[in-house]
Amino acid sequence: MLAGKRILLLVAGGIAAYKSLDLIRRLRERGASVRVVLTASGAKFVTPLSLAALSGDKVYGDLFSLTDESEMGHIRLSREADLLVVAPATANILARMAQGLASDLATTVLLATDKPVLAAPSMNTRMWEHPATRANIATLMSRGTLFVGPGAGNLACGEVGDGRLADVMDIVAAIESYFSASAPLAGKRALVTSGPTFEAIDPVRFIGNRSSGKQGHAIAAALARLGADTTLVSGPVAEPDPAGVRVVHIESAREMLEACQAALPADVAVCAAAVADWRVRDAAGQKMKKGASGTPSLDLVENPDILATLSAAGNARPRLVVGFAAETENVIANAQAKRAKKNCDWIVANDVSANAGVFGGDENTVHLISANGVEDWPRMAKDAVADQLAQRIRDHLSKVA
Ligand code: C5P
Repeated sequence: MLAGKRILLLVAGGIAAYKSLDLIRRLRERGASVRVVLTASGAKFVTPLSLAALSGDKVYGDLFSLTDESEMGHIRLSREADLLVVAPATANILARMAQGLASDLATTVLLATDKPVLAAPSMNTRMWEHPATRANIATLMSRGTLFVGPGAGNLACGEVGDGRLADVMDIVAAIESYFSASAPLAGKRALVTSGPTFEAIDPVRFIGNRSSGKQGHAIAAALARLGADTTLVSGPVAEPDPAGVRVVHIESAREMLEACQAALPADVAVCAAAVADWRVRDAAGQKMKKGASGTPSLDLVENPDILATLSAAGNARPRLVVGFAAETENVIANAQAKRAKKNCDWIVANDVSANAGVFGGDENTVHLISANGVEDWPRMAKDAVADQLAQRIRDHLSKVA
């Protein structure tokens, strides 16, 4: 859910500061990276060592540290974050934020940032209800600061009432909902196929191919990062399951088709798998033995074409269907013919001739073929191809919404 998100956590000085340790764990479990800025009073409640151990990063605290500033300037702290989270947000730090004070590293970063800020207030009830705090909260809200909590309950000071830091899981939920609401493909469903298929000859042998799944997996990850509810149907690959993606592992083309149909409806389908064109008509139930009957011949039948089937799915057809064309010659002409034959919307064509180094490699040179013509993309990392394609899918879906 939070895969790849970068959170800058600003920990101020309240008794609830110890809960920031759990917050860091929960965020990292969900795939986010967390960098911590600790105020001087925060350091009275929780140690930099614990925060560094849990965040897996150095903890920043001193605005005037020459080493910190040369390693990671206060502007970079904000620039390298997707969201700033102030937890616990004490009455004091909220007042300084409302005033625009830059009296330490935390408030300087908060003043210098153009990134969204989410605050989780935590303080004594009377402080929370004080007109000064009410006015500060109103000011911050009017400037767009997001808030989660506080909750009501027993406070560490022995009083009962509002002012309790929101539960850690509620803070996590607020962070998740911020990212899903701001994600450009939020509410959209994506289906991606990736990897080879294995077609059984007998229980130990199969027909397969050299697809690594790198490109398809990268596309599923890129769509998920943009907020799409993404299902990846993958043949056998060495690539790990991408974070934030629902992965269905299959072996044969027929299993892949079944899994794709089960994943519909979808707004976009990207068929990046190298599906075997043929399978053995009757795979042997037992291991075939070398011996008297001579060299066996394989009786092959054609596999279903998943891309063509999805493109012809009538009402269930995804609004955008994208195929791949791996070609060794006449790359563009063959890909254009494939687009027409399979009735898909776009074809991503790439040259997989032996000297192109595409199979198993980390880079790809592709051409995007659509009704509008051919676009030649420069040679890029497969991850960058995936990001570009995901952006184009986003643009397209927002136009035909
Ligand atoms: O016909 P060819 O295999 O070259 O077409 C490649 C495109 O068609 C790819 O997008 C691939 O994922 C898809 N395909 C498919 N099912 C097949 C064969 C190819 O989805 N049986």
